[in-house]
Parts: sequence; structure tokens; C-alpha cells
Amino acid sequence: MRQIKNNRKAFIQKTGLALMAGISKPLVGFGFTEKSPVIKGSNNELKPIVISTWDFGLKANEGAWQVLKNGGNAIDAVETGVKVTEADPNERSVGYGGRPDRDGKVTLDACIMDHQFNIGSVAALESIKHPVSVARAVMEKTPHVMLVGDGALQFAISQGFTKENLLIEASQKEYEQWLIKSEYKPKVNIENHDTIGMLALDVNGNLSGACTTSGMAFKMHGRVGDSPIIGAGLYVDNEIGAATATGHGEEVIRMTGSHLVVELMRMGYSPEKACKKAVERIIGICKQRNKNIRDIQVGFIALNKKGEFGSYCVQSGFQYAVYNQNGNNLHKSDHVI
Ligand code: GLY
Repeated sequence: MRQIKNNRKAFIQKTGLALMAGISKPLVGFGFTEKSPVIKGSNNELKPIVISTWDFGLKANEGAWQVLKNGGNAIDAVETGVKVTEADPNERSVGYGGRPDRDGKVTLDACIMDHQFNIGSVAALESIKHPVSVARAVMEKTPHVMLVGDGALQFAISQGFTKENLLIEASQKEYEQWLIKSEYKPKVNIENHDTIGMLALDVNGNLSGACTTSGMAFKMHGRVGDSPIIGAGLYVDNEIGAATATGHGEEVIRMTGSHLVVELMRMGYSPEKACKKAVERIIGICKQRNKNIRDIQVGFIALNKKGEFGSYCVQSGFQYAVYNQNGNNLHKSDHVI
């Protein structure tokens, strides 16, 4: 894990003057002082903290941090955080502005999980800008855990969500260009940001996570990736830790990636080592299936109950963002091949 960008402005603005003046007063809701270089809670937990996939995680983390810094819950933080990416038309793999499927339709997948094993998920949802909020409504207001397609849309409308056109002009143009050859070839490099997965640990020591995507560009209509699948794209066990995934969803579903990462942490592995072992599993499965691993990218991020975090990916190019008392920083994930 290598820190490659240090965006400490907000933290410095908050604490710098007080530090220069030698003032040391507790921050409301944090339970520690502004002088602490590394912030530890009563049980040596490093909290609050939020981590998320890719460089667009930096902006998303800002949203989540507004909740966490005021003592808010992890579940509210992750929903607020990923909504920033969902609403951003410049992020072309999540929410509004997401690239369409091969029928020209933008279909969204999202899920959310809290510290008490409450889960909610939507898949192949059209025309709703914030699928993560619909997933949360599934979690809180239905006896079910997952709604898909028309049923998810019908439910969203019943909950007051409004239908919008999510296909922006730039995506429409790309789609028209794609139609000329109509080849489905997902890229494995850093341009292929595919999912925002976010994990948070709040001041009360509770973990939550959320994951949202428009899925692979030009996928088959009806294709669902790992992101809305609890255990694949996201998993949270409040006694142990949380994990989320990005990359080729089919490969993550095949080995229930995020659940595996959490189980590896349960066995005592650090978040980074757990992510590495899960990536090695993907590579092993690829070998067994005679698939070229160079065609595949998967990255995991993980956060444990103590606030320790880590990541690993198949091949270079994956980054993730971490916002804690050290500011909001981008980290480069280590890779296996
Ligand atoms: N990881 C996102 C997807 O495969 O759809």
C-alpha cells in the first residue's frame, strides 16, 4: 500500500490554527484531542474512518466524512458518500451519466449493509439517480433484501423517488460509436473505474458499507455484476470488518469475494493480507479455467473493526481513497501480477 496523494486541506484547516496556538480541546463527538497525531479511541480503534474505491472515492469520502466527523452513523455516511458519485455525470460508470448496456439503457446495481446484518439491494434498476437509496429503502421498508428491474423501479416510485433520464449526451455518443463494432471487451486498466464501494467505521465503532455501479459498459441487457450481490461486491461483519470489490463482477461472484475477505480477517489476516489472499484465489480459479488473467482486473478494499485498512488487486492500476484523521488521501493498491 503506497500513499500517492495527500489532500490534508480540510484536516489542516480544522486543526492547524489550534495546533499552532497550542490549543488542545476535544473535537465534538470524536473523543480525542486535536493534538493527537494518530487518533485512537478508547479501545485503540482508529475511528472514524471511511475508505472507498478509485480516485472518485476522494470526493465521495468528503461526503461521508461530513456525517462521520459530526458523530454520525456509518450507514448514513456510506449512503451519503456514494450518492456523491452517483450524482456526478462525469463519473461514467456509476449512477447518472453511467454508460448504457448494449440496448442503450442505463441500468444500475447497488447494495448497502449495516452493522447488524441488515441488507438491501437493487439490480438492473433504470431511471433512478440514487440506486443506493432505493437499496436502503429495500433494507428498511420491505421484508425482502433484493429487488430487480421493473419491480425495483415500481418500489422506488412508491417510495417517492422520481424517474429521470440517466443517459447523458456523452454516453449516448459513446454508445453510438460502440454500435459500429458492437464488441464487448471490458478494459482492465485504470480508465475502467467501474464501481464505487465504500466502507466506514463510525465513532461508535460500527461498520457499514455500500456499493453502486452502472456495471460493465455495453453489457447484455439484464446482466448483473457483483456490486449488488451481498457477499460478492460487499460484506460487513461488525465483529470483524468489512470488504468491498471493484472490477470484473463475474470473477468476484464466482468466489464470493467480499465475504471471503471478511472471513480471512476473521482468521487473523490483516485487511491487506486478506485482500491479497482473495486476489490470489481469483488468479488460481482463472488458471483452473484456462482463462487469461491479464484480461481480468479485480480490486478489494477492506477495513477491520480496529480501523486498520488495506487493499490488493490483480494487476496494477487500482487506487483507493482513505479519509481519517490524517486527511483524505489516495492510495495505490498493490497487485499480484
Ligand atoms: N464490478 C462491477 C460489475 O462488474 O458490474
